[in-house]
Amino acid sequence: MIDIRDFVDVDNATQNRRIFGDPDIYKLELERIFARCWLFLTHESLIPNVGDFVVTKMGEDEVIVWRQRDKSIKAFLNVCTHRGMRLCPSESGNSKGMSCSYHGWAFGVDGGLSAVPVEEAIYGPDFDKCKLGLREVPLVDSYHGFIFGCMDAAAPSLPDYLGDAAWYFDIWADVPGGVELLGPPSRTILNANWKSPTENFIGDAYHVGWTHAPVLAAMMGEVPPQASFIGDEKSFQMTSRYGHGLGIINNFGPALLLHECPELAPWMEKRAALLAQSKGPDIARLYTNNWDASIFPNISYLFGIMVFKVWHPLGPDKIEVMTWPIAEKEMPDDLKRRLAVASHRTFGPAGMLEGDDLDNFEYATRPNRGFVTRQGDLNLQMGLGQEREDPALPGVIGPFMSEMAQRGFYRAYADCLSSDDWTELEATTANWKQATLRK
Ligand code: FES
Repeated sequence: MIDIRDFVDVDNATQNRRIFGDPDIYKLELERIFARCWLFLTHESLIPNVGDFVVTKMGEDEVIVWRQRDKSIKAFLNVCTHRGMRLCPSESGNSKGMSCSYHGWAFGVDGGLSAVPVEEAIYGPDFDKCKLGLREVPLVDSYHGFIFGCMDAAAPSLPDYLGDAAWYFDIWADVPGGVELLGPPSRTILNANWKSPTENFIGDAYHVGWTHAPVLAAMMGEVPPQASFIGDEKSFQMTSRYGHGLGIINNFGPALLLHECPELAPWMEKRAALLAQSKGPDIARLYTNNWDASIFPNISYLFGIMVFKVWHPLGPDKIEVMTWPIAEKEMPDDLKRRLAVASHRTFGPAGMLEGDDLDNFEYATRPNRGFVTRQGDLNLQMGLGQEREDPALPGVIGPFMSEMAQRGFYRAYADCLSSDDWTELEATTANWKQATLRK
């Protein structure tokens, strides 16, 4: 049995490279992280009508997320219960039922087995279809229209799982009219371990002025000095109990998306003025800042650049990346269209900045094939010892230019992999704040 703490040293903020490619560790991740944690499925705006569905993944388990007759949403494993054929070959659509292309068993929108070809002649009169419906994902819930599912019925509620990260999520998602994701998502296959992009988006401000310097120069006419990504006293990182984290940089000059989509500026100014009245000037300021964030285990978003991503694992060194632009529902259609173009031009599959990052993710994963290389450790000690509490901000706070949020991610990662179930995981993480503050 693997003891993940042999590979993740939380106190010294080092990780052995084997967690980025070892097949046995990967199997444990599928079992103890992806079959246990809340995972993003889709957004309500992408399946608005009865019968609308999308097909997505929970770990490597493929699921159909389906709008029900009563407008609720259920999710089912995308496999026929007869001989295990993949049921739905489409990425999305609308249907009140689906039939398997192998022998023709048919399932209704509620997942029930509704028809079996020549049933009575071959199975007899007592064949019980009730027990042969699609396997349902036990927990499905929505947070500001973002639909999450969880394979473990013993998990805490979705709001409890999001914990301190929900307060931050509310700032940009709990706006009048709500937000939506502009679909369908773009999909890319990448030869990288799923943790590389998640840890990058959770708080790697260090790479921005270096990795992206040539593209920033091309886009903006000049490269902001690398020191400008340190941020000011109002810039910070946050980490939370189950490993969700973010970085928010204050007053970062001309934000990238405003450069690509200047039409967004007057919209955000108007919104910020309303937010200042309803929630106060500090919340309004955060709304106008640039954010990088990840929700454990495999969701990332950039607010300010308006992009939402999921990194689906397809093996120890392969992922499928799904990307959606984020928009507010009340935005005029033309602004949504401009924003989607700008979002894709920066962080879509062929986006100028995405290309830089993908190289980093792939070439941080590939060297692990080397027997000697993969014995080595990696370092996340930037800002160690500068963790603090802030009465105005939930979670544990650290400098914007630090690796505190990444350390929080790997603390939660080690907690998850070393716990047998949610009861043990909740006990293990009960002292997360003191451990992070090193008290
Ligand atoms: Fe689906 Fe036989 S495998 S009907």
